[in-house]
Amino acid sequence: MLSKKLEKELNNQMNNEFFAEYEYLSMAAYFHSINLDGIANYFHVQAQEEHFHAMKIFHFILDKGGKVQLQQIAQPDIDFKSPLDVFEKALEHEKKVTKSINKLMDEAIKENDHAVNSFLRWYVDEQVEEEALAGKSLGKMKLINGQGEGLLILDQEFSQRTFTVPKEN
Ligand code: FEO
Repeated sequence: MLSKKLEKELNNQMNNEFFAEYEYLSMAAYFHSINLDGIANYFHVQAQEEHFHAMKIFHFILDKGGKVQLQQIAQPDIDFKSPLDVFEKALEHEKKVTKSINKLMDEAIKENDHAVNSFLRWYVDEQVEEEALAGKSLGKMKLINGQGEGLLILDQEFSQRTFTVPKEN
């Protein structure tokens, strides 16, 4: 059984992941609005990944005999200043998610809950990839100064991104 505290924190993390899905959908909408549909695709794929992250927790809570408690999803950013601004916010967002996963892992360790600890390892590893990708993409955006013809090249590159169900372990 899950402790009440871990059950609550897992539910909160599930909400964080659904919120992340919203954030990335909002970023996708921004890029569609400025006709960069390839970069919008990059964020749609990111949103799908976040949905997967949330649902993985959803099923884990149930498997552990806990209660899934869906909460209100906060409104994401809807005003972006520039393409560069979006990628800066995306990296900041991933850093926050890493912190919340680490906090959750600290609690699992404190409670000696091996199942939650093992489950969260996937997220710890995933966050390394999430931050690396967000950092690399921001780096590319900085290289082109977030504007000009370089944007069209990135639009082409990011149009190729596809969602594949992440490896479980
Ligand atoms: Fe679910 Fe992008 O972390």
